[in-house]
Amino acid sequence: MSSSSPLSLGSERITALDTAFEILRDAWEGFDTARPGQPQPSDRTIALLLEELPTTGIGVIAALREAESLLDQSLAQSRPRFFGYVGSSGLEVGVLAEALSASHDVNLASVAAAATLVEQQTIRWVGEFIGFGPTSGVVTSGGMLSNLTALAAARERALPGSRRTGLDGRGTLYVSAEAHSSVDRSAELLGLGSDSIRAIALDGHRRMDVTALDASLRRDKADGRVPIAVVATAGTTLTGAVDPLRQIAGVCSEHGVWFHVDGAYGLPAAATRTAAHLFDGISLADSATIDAHKWLFVPKACGILLMRDTVALRETFGHTTSYMVDAEENPVDRTLEYSRPFRSLKLWTAFRAHGADAFRDALEENLRLAQLLADLVRETPQLELIVEPQLSTVPFRRIPTHGSVDEHNSAIAKRMQQEGDAYITSAVVDGMTVLRPCITNFRTSADDVRALIEIVQRTGEKLELQE
Ligand SMILES: Cc1ncc(COP(=O)(O)O)c(C=O)c1O
Repeated sequence: MSSSSPLSLGSERITALDTAFEILRDAWEGFDTARPGQPQPSDRTIALLLEELPTTGIGVIAALREAESLLDQSLAQSRPRFFGYVGSSGLEVGVLAEALSASHDVNLASVAAAATLVEQQTIRWVGEFIGFGPTSGVVTSGGMLSNLTALAAARERALPGSRRTGLDGRGTLYVSAEAHSSVDRSAELLGLGSDSIRAIALDGHRRMDVTALDASLRRDKADGRVPIAVVATAGTTLTGAVDPLRQIAGVCSEHGVWFHVDGAYGLPAAATRTAAHLFDGISLADSATIDAHKWLFVPKACGILLMRDTVALRETFGHTTSYMVDAEENPVDRTLEYSRPFRSLKLWTAFRAHGADAFRDALEENLRLAQLLADLVRETPQLELIVEPQLSTVPFRRIPTHGSVDEHNSAIAKRMQQEGDAYITSAVVDGMTVLRPCITNFRTSADDVRALIEIVQRTGEKLELQE
């Protein structure tokens, strides 16, 4: 018999499940191919979203239908022509496993029987997939938290006891000039200050210049500074450049500095035949960030922090409390978050369902599509390829017949975002405003890539007539 609580679904449970099934089926069928346009929030939706807290409910079926309508008027990264930022996919198996995980509402702050083992196995599998070597670690909400967690551990390793005593302003961090701003945020939150970050110059391939890194470390050490960590980026957000990991590992080892790799976006490509060579040296890192909710296709949130062992995490996050005393060690003592959902189940289930080779093939296809996009840009007279793609990011721009090139490209991105036939974002590379598509979706096809070029051209021509 079901519960008599006012929050129980009671006799509506089966109809609610059938409705949710129908909504999901329609959504997935809608994602299989691109749809023209993107509905904006209607007047009715805006009025609904200004309503006060309801005192009595409208019932589960009506509420689910409202949620369906709100989702339809929201920007879904699962659609095959979402090329903005670093997108994602909402992998179907992952979505189902996420619903199951939410239903059991496991909390990984404390030991949670099989769920704790699933998390550890998933981390080991990800480490094996990308060639990290012996792996432990923790599942986080994403790249921001993974980078922060790794850098907290590096800070405690370089300045033992500083988590208790605070900092004396000597710590420094090293990143490439095009690293993600999550490292700045981490430095600020960890009390190192973003002024302690050395933004190392780029080489001709937009990668961290290793000679400049070595010189910067030497200078800082001679000045009495304490290097905390070098953060290499394995797939920069701007262009997908992969820093030279093996060479950076050599410099870190010489200077005795923690080597962290931020591969939130790009690291899955280390598992492919085509791109593996770019990640040579990943097995020498002390820690690495990889987001399964980016290029391992599962829905947000699922960030993985790979660590050589959990000792450094325990030294950084361990506490003794009087209310969690039953287990010898609680998982919360290895991470920042307290209550932590069972995020790894969606990746675990997806690996079990599809196998690692299917993931490898989907990544290869995205890499191939990025090359196709670069070729199409080269073949189109009005378009200019700005950076040769190393992974799946292809910065390019359209040269208008008259007027400012920067303004034209910014206007194309904004117009395409409004019209919604394909979603693209702009970015600034070497001072130039460019279009910066990124392909991380297993649903994206060669036809979608061809359509992107056609839509950029059509939008650019329309704007030229108006400018
Ligand atoms: C290289 C890199 N690091 C970190 C992040 C932050 O990841 P998240 O949004 O999962 O916190 C991103 C996001 O795009 C990224 O590209």
